[in-house]
This record gives sequence, structure tokens and C-alpha cells, in this order.
Amino acid sequence: MPSPETDSPHDGTPDGTGARRAALIMLDAVLRKGQTLDSAASAARGLPPADAAHASAIAGETLRRLPDLDELIDSATRQRLPDDSKARMVLRLALAQKIGLDTPDHAIVATALPLVDGGPRRLVHGVLGTLLRRGLGPPEDPRLPPEVEQRWAAAWGEPTVLAARAAIARRPPLDLSFATDEAAAAFPLGTTLAPRHRRLQPAEITSIPGFAEGQWWVQDVAAEIPAHMMLAVWLNVLDLCAAPGGKTMQLAAAGHKVTALDRSKSRLARLTENLARTGLAAKTIVADAFDYHPAELFDAVLVDAPCSATGTFRRHPEVLYRARPSVIAELTDLQTRLINHAATLIRPGGGLIYAVCSLEPEEGEAIVTSFLASHPGFTLLPPTPGELPDGVTSSPEGWLRILPGMLADAGGLDGFFVARLLAPSKRLVAPAK
Ligand SMILES: C[S@@+](CC[C@H](N)C(=O)[O-])C[C@H]1O[C@@H](n2cnc3c(N)ncnc32)[C@H](O)[C@@H]1O
Repeated sequence: MPSPETDSPHDGTPDGTGARRAALIMLDAVLRKGQTLDSAASAARGLPPADAAHASAIAGETLRRLPDLDELIDSATRQRLPDDSKARMVLRLALAQKIGLDTPDHAIVATALPLVDGGPRRLVHGVLGTLLRRGLGPPEDPRLPPEVEQRWAAAWGEPTVLAARAAIARRPPLDLSFATDEAAAAFPLGTTLAPRHRRLQPAEITSIPGFAEGQWWVQDVAAEIPAHMMLAVWLNVLDLCAAPGGKTMQLAAAGHKVTALDRSKSRLARLTENLARTGLAAKTIVADAFDYHPAELFDAVLVDAPCSATGTFRRHPEVLYRARPSVIAELTDLQTRLINHAATLIRPGGGLIYAVCSLEPEEGEAIVTSFLASHPGFTLLPPTPGELPDGVTSSPEGWLRILPGMLADAGGLDGFFVARLLAPSKRLVAPAK
């Protein structure tokens, strides 16, 4: 996070607005056009790296605190500013710098006003002045968008909502996955929550030893679990939604013969780069899963399905705004078709692991429940304690649900759902009518 000193109006542009202007474009791209923060970050292209990082920090901090920032803005003007108006966007960015980034007031005002040149400058100046004079106290845990809080309260209860607020207020730690036990044991930094894992405080990835040598890759410790649940006897495995390859690398490192398939050529290219960097091997296939009909069945298939990714809200706060009910409904349709197709690619007695980094039960529990109902003979094989991070336990139903608040003292985990299913050892034939 940039320090107050780097947050001067002289951050690489004459009047210090370069980073803020880029942050404004990013915020608009996320909230109005539905882009991810990573893809919106192209708005900062051409800025010096420190300014580009600052732009992303401002936009990210704004998204983390949006409902609270809007309430503040509304409390300081009788005028109702439309959600996507430039005035509201600029005020949100300015207040996020005050509350989340400790930026001095003079720098906030000096860099906000040029963003509304030719627009409602007086209004922005007035609202900002009122709020800064009021003196904004130490930040409380930010509220999430009301519809998300309602959804998660209904699904998981109020304590989970409070835990999610606490989680989004803090910078999440950095989890590293290692290819071998030896590399993890020899690594000089961090703590260990799971096999071949190290947890560090947030840092610049390339400044951590061993990156260039391919000793590790970044992956939340929750996202490591599906690969830990792949049984060693399942040698030939298909990673059906593989890119950018965190789980492919884990599986290859654990000795599986991996076929890594993804429909995105560019994401699969990243997987190939990741394999080259870490010296691991997998067969890669660019294809739509539904067009893939291999001659031989696999011992097991991993379906790390495309999802709303709401479990990653700590690092990607924009998911809270992108995951509208209509989007979730479309994704559940795709997830149902993917798990059903995966079941046709497994040998009798083989395994199917279904995972999503989502906090929506429709994308996890409901998918597996309806899969089991429509696939007689498939059974759940619950995770064993050795397959889970220390302190994480499986659900009574036999799958794994990770919620905000779990292992909070150790830095928390991304929200996740994982189920391991065993295929019947003989294909069940539908009875003749
Ligand atoms: C959650 S990501 C996978 C992350 C990956 N397993 C990892 O650990 O790095 C989901 C992936 O599914 C891919 N995908 C979505 N629909 C697909 C389809 N119909 N066929 C194949 N891949 C698909 C996306 O391109 C995306 O890379």
C-alpha cells in the first residue's frame, strides 16, 4: 500500500492527477462496464509503475468501501448524485484516499478537483470540504453491498457477514505453493498451514526469493485444497478448467499424469509459461470442454469451474458488484453442464473433484446435490484432515465449505467449496422400460 509520502500530488505527473485519473477510469470500467479490476488496470498503462500501483490501490480501496463512501457523500449534500455520475465517482475516490490510504487532505482536494474540470467542480469542492472538515474517524470494518450482505446472511448467517466485513478491511496475506516438500522446507520466510505451503505478509512477488527459479507460485491456501484431495492412485487426471494452472502445477508436482484443458488460448498460454518456469510437465489442450471426447477415460477429473469468484472478495472487491443474481444463474447452468460432462470422462470407480471459489451455495452445494440426485451410484468421499489446512474441517454433508472467518487469526482464507465424488465401479444401466 503506498505510504502517505508517496501519496503527494507530485506522483509522476505535474499536478499529481495521473494516478487518480487512471483510478477514475478503472472505477468506471468496473462499476459501469462490469470489467475486472485487473483488466481495468490497463487504464494506468504508460504511468510510472509506482503511479500505476497507486491508481490500482485507490480504485481497490474505493471498491472495498463503496457503500460507506456513498453514505458519507449523501450525508453531505441534499442533491441526489446519480450512481454513475462523475461527481460521485470522484468523491468516492477522494474519500477512499482519506479513509483507507491516509492521504493528506490538501493532496486529496488538489488532485480531485482537476478530475471534474468543466463539470460540477463547486459541488465536489463543497461536499469534500464539508466531509474533510467534519473529520472522518478511524475506519470501521467496511459494509459490503446490501444485496450481498442479505444473500450471505440468508445462506451462512450474520456472523459470516461480520467476518466478511472484517476480512475485506485487511490486506490478505500472500500464500505460496511449492512443488516439493524440500523446497517448502528450505524456504526461509513465512508460516505453514498445509503441506508444501508458506504464508507471507503481502509483498512484491518478484522480491521474494525463488520466483525466477520457479520454486513456488502464488495461490490462496484454500485454492490448494482440491489438488490435495486428488488421490495418489488416480494417476491419469484431467484438469478440465485448468488455466492459469495453479492446480495443474500442484497435480503435476504430486506425480499425476495431467491433461490440462481450457477453452481460453491466452489463459492456457499463461499455464504453459507457468509450467516452464516451475519445470513441471502436463499435456495441454485448447478446447471447449463440451467438444472434448477423449478415446480413453481418466482415473479422475478436476472441475475447477468458472464461477462468480465471490470467495476472492478480499483481493478482488469488484466481484461483489459483478456477481448479480442473473450472472450467478447463468454460471450455475454452465457449472451443471460441466460437472455432468466431466462424469462422462471418468472410468468406472474413478474420481470427480468439483471446486468453486464462490460463496454462493447455488454454485457449490446446490450443484453437487443435484448432480448426486441425477447420477445414482456416485458417492461423496469427504476430505481427510491431512488433506486440509490445519484448523479447517469438512462439513457434515461430506464436502468442504470455507467461509469468511475461518482461520481469521492466521490471516483467513478465500471462500471456497470443494466436493470429491467417487464414480460407481460399474456404469449403472438405466432399467429397460
Ligand atoms: C476458475 S478458472 C480455473 C483456474 C485454474 N484451475 C487454476 O487453478 O489456475 C476457470 C477456467 O475455466 C475455463 N472455462 C470456462 N468455460 C470453459 C469451457 N466450456 N471449457 C473449457 N474451459 C472453460 C476458463 O477459461 C477459466 O480459465
